[in-house]
Amino acid sequence: MNRPAHPNGLLDVNREEEMDFSAPGVHEKNKANLNKYKLTAYVYDILDFPWELQYRHWRPGLVGDIRGEVMEAGVGTGRNLRYYSDDVNLTALDFSPSMLRRAMTRARGARCRVRFLCEDACRMVSVPTGHYDWVVATFLCCVIPTELQHLVVAEVSRILKPGGRFRLVEMIHSKNSAIRARQNLFAPFVRKVYGAGFDRETLRHVEESGDLQVTATRFLKHDVYLLIEGIRK
Ligand SMILES: C[S@@+](CC[C@H](N)C(=O)[O-])C[C@H]1O[C@@H](n2cnc3c(N)ncnc32)[C@H](O)[C@@H]1O
Repeated sequence: MNRPAHPNGLLDVNREEEMDFSAPGVHEKNKANLNKYKLTAYVYDILDFPWELQYRHWRPGLVGDIRGEVMEAGVGTGRNLRYYSDDVNLTALDFSPSMLRRAMTRARGARCRVRFLCEDACRMVSVPTGHYDWVVATFLCCVIPTELQHLVVAEVSRILKPGGRFRLVEMIHSKNSAIRARQNLFAPFVRKVYGAGFDRETLRHVEESGDLQVTATRFLKHDVYLLIEGIRK
């Protein structure tokens, strides 16, 4: 597929040979997940396919209205990329070089400018403070270990401009007993393959952050797929 031309004639997707895939400063407690994704990256899109059948209906609405300087943290294989407007300058961050390589391929279908960054979302060492209009993360925080949730939330807050906005989508435990039983069945698989859990309480960490204000929450499906939106005070 040909990449649609950006109105400015610009499509500055990093060339792979220009990328630094060293993921500097990955937190010790994120290294197990980083290792996991060395393997998971090869099968990610195949394993995730049944879920992606529903996610793909949500993705245009999750990023299509966003404009300006945008950080997508935990970009994965780049499933959101094609839905960003051409008014977006996107930084696509992930700590896994193998996932980023897949996202780079998918960026050929994107209308926005994309720059890739291989770093830990809990320590975005080369990302300037107060730079972004938006931070987006879909299914990232449910992978970040509980004890590091405060770090990723602090980084979201640090890199946003005052008045900048964020949108997070996470999976959480359902209160419905039938759904919860299904989650319990899948939990070992989800933990082993994606490093993810339903117990991360990202919303609580965001609410406890002094600098971020939650403006809306809603479920995309059941009481499991939680959308958290807010603003940097
Ligand atoms: C479950 S996948 C979601 C991918 C994508 N956001 C989506 O919606 O399909 C989680 C992604 O977050 C990345 N990730 C996990 N922990 C990370 C961290 N501490 N820093 C940066 N990326 C991380 C993984 O490599 C993976 O690509």
